[in-house]
Amino acid sequence: MPLNPLSILIVDDEQGFRELMVEALRTEVSQVDSAPDAETALAMVSERHYPVIFTDLILPGSQSGLDLIRSIRHMDRRAFCIVMTGNATTEVAIQALKEGAYDFILKPFTLVEIKASLKRALSHYATLRENESYQTQLEEMVAERTGETMKLKEDIEHLFESFVAASVTAIEARDPSTSGHSERVAELTVSLSEAVNRTDGGHYGSTHFTPAQLREIRYASLLHDFGKVGVPEHLLLKAKKLKSDRLDHLLQRLHQRDLEQTLSLFESAWGNGSNFDPDRFNELMAAQRRESRALVDKLQRCNEPQHLLQSEINELEILETLEYKHWSGKVMPLLEPADMECLRVRMGSLTQGERDEVRAHVSHSFRFLSRIPWTGELENVPVIAYAHHERLNGQGYPRGIVSEEIPIQSKIMAISDVFDALVAKDRPYKRAVSVEESLDILDEEARSGLLDRNLLDIFLEARVYEVTTSQPREAP
Ligand SMILES: [Fe+2]
Ligand SMILES: [Fe+2]
Repeated sequence: MPLNPLSILIVDDEQGFRELMVEALRTEVSQVDSAPDAETALAMVSERHYPVIFTDLILPGSQSGLDLIRSIRHMDRRAFCIVMTGNATTEVAIQALKEGAYDFILKPFTLVEIKASLKRALSHYATLRENESYQTQLEEMVAERTGETMKLKEDIEHLFESFVAASVTAIEARDPSTSGHSERVAELTVSLSEAVNRTDGGHYGSTHFTPAQLREIRYASLLHDFGKVGVPEHLLLKAKKLKSDRLDHLLQRLHQRDLEQTLSLFESAWGNGSNFDPDRFNELMAAQRRESRALVDKLQRCNEPQHLLQSEINELEILETLEYKHWSGKVMPLLEPADMECLRVRMGSLTQGERDEVRAHVSHSFRFLSRIPWTGELENVPVIAYAHHERLNGQGYPRGIVSEEIPIQSKIMAISDVFDALVAKDRPYKRAVSVEESLDILDEEARSGLLDRNLLDIFLEARVYEVTTSQPREAP
């Protein structure tokens, strides 16, 4: 309905009075209409908006002036109704105001009075319309700003997703041997968290992660190993105890020692001028070759990262006593203390110092993640990632904290992380373990107080491990 602040309507059964009013108020507004009864007035109101409607209380037909006011209130809440009556009582006046009348004028009234009442109503009307328009403007502004804010939020989220994806690419470029690990750990960790949500009874029956918390868990999982960018690459890729160029160097020294030993045997056999004996020569050569071959085998065997047997530890003692002649003429130990430290590692390929450097990736991750201004919903990302190598019994790292101090999200991530590391086919320092064998190892770790038994049960019951193992792996 169009708003026209300059149209008014006079409702009165006396034609003479209506004409008088129309004539008197014509100069005040652009249009003055009139109606003899409520029905006609309502038909006009349904067609047009009248900011001000003057009405008599007593009208012909089935509807009184009060009925008319009530109906207009329903049809056009913006219209101001002013009651005109010659026989008013206080009760009638109160009733009219209750029904929503704006003003009440007693007949007979002067022209000045009616114009003053119209002026008041129009002025009030104008103020309300101004407020209304301001309110609409404000709402439009808020809607516009809300739209902009939502777009900004979407842009930030998109930017953030891209940043996380780029970070994961950076981790894997640094450590191609663990290609896809971050994504798989994220998939497993989120799936196990969702399985916890579906669990009604038991220890974690009342634990529920919100969608925002699941997002937090996903980011923490994707970035948990980011600190590996701060670990020397040769340590991440170290497949044997000695670096390959160092092993070559030592084998070369063994070869040199072999020649020195051979020479010395020949000297002792024929250095005094005795006649050359080919049989003796072959015998000495074969013995020397056997010894040298055995030493090379020992060195190569002890260089392997699998568990060292006691017999191999004994063999190390022999290797430690070997000497060779340096070009300067000095006799020197063939294996240096640093080589012996590498070879003495009982399990794996890293010495304690190297292991510490690799383990430092957790603290690097925490420092890196703590520098990101996470929004409130994601504020725990650094803390969750920081505890992914902690173990319930305090035997984890880097802080050695115990169960009560480890966030449940990190306990969930620990199961996913260990599982993926075990089944991984592409790590240079270990063989891939079958899914069944990996689940047995997880069970053993829960039994010895490293991993959370209740969470592992959910991992097994919900077959969370199938999330990554049933899909074909992407090529690194
Ligand atoms: Fe890690
Ligand atoms: Fe990891």
